[in-house]
Amino acid sequence: MKRSVTLNINGSEHTVQAEPRALLVQVLRDDLDLTGTHVGCDTSQCGACTVLIDGRAVKSCTVLAVQAEGQQITTIEGIGSADALHPLQQGFWEKHGLQCGFCTPGMIMTAMDLLAANPDPSEAEIRHAIEGNYCRCTGYQNIVAAIQVAAATLRANPGAGRWARAGA
Ligand code: FES
Ligand code: FES
Repeated sequence: MKRSVTLNINGSEHTVQAEPRALLVQVLRDDLDLTGTHVGCDTSQCGACTVLIDGRAVKSCTVLAVQAEGQQITTIEGIGSADALHPLQQGFWEKHGLQCGFCTPGMIMTAMDLLAANPDPSEAEIRHAIEGNYCRCTGYQNIVAAIQVAAATLRANPGAGRWARAGA
């Protein structure tokens, strides 16, 4: 039986009718059409579904939608736009941190959590942070470079990452 679920996503409240067993990622994609959050596995390993919940990176396939009520959810759609890229989006663009792009939203959301806590991470710290996010295309080197350039941008201009705090 479905019930009413109200979620705060990217600063706006959305109420949907969802089964208690519905995963957050299912509600995001199927009910709210926020398809930037991807599903890449059924074992909670790939990280393609990563969003921020109260500022922390969470695999949204591991959370029931009803569990996310009352928390601030941020998806890739909430951090920038084609006309105003978030520094992480810009970094992935500039450093060719993607090929097919399937992993990219999850990578970016994970990196947002990292940079909010650690504005100047080492390469090893970046690699550790994204170890729960799989990329089948890039070999990771350009992803690390993208996060490094975004970190530098955000250190020089913290206001450019205002969206990084959305939901925090
Ligand atoms: S869809 Fe793969 S970890 Fe969530
Ligand atoms: S760019 Fe294709 S999976 Fe990462």
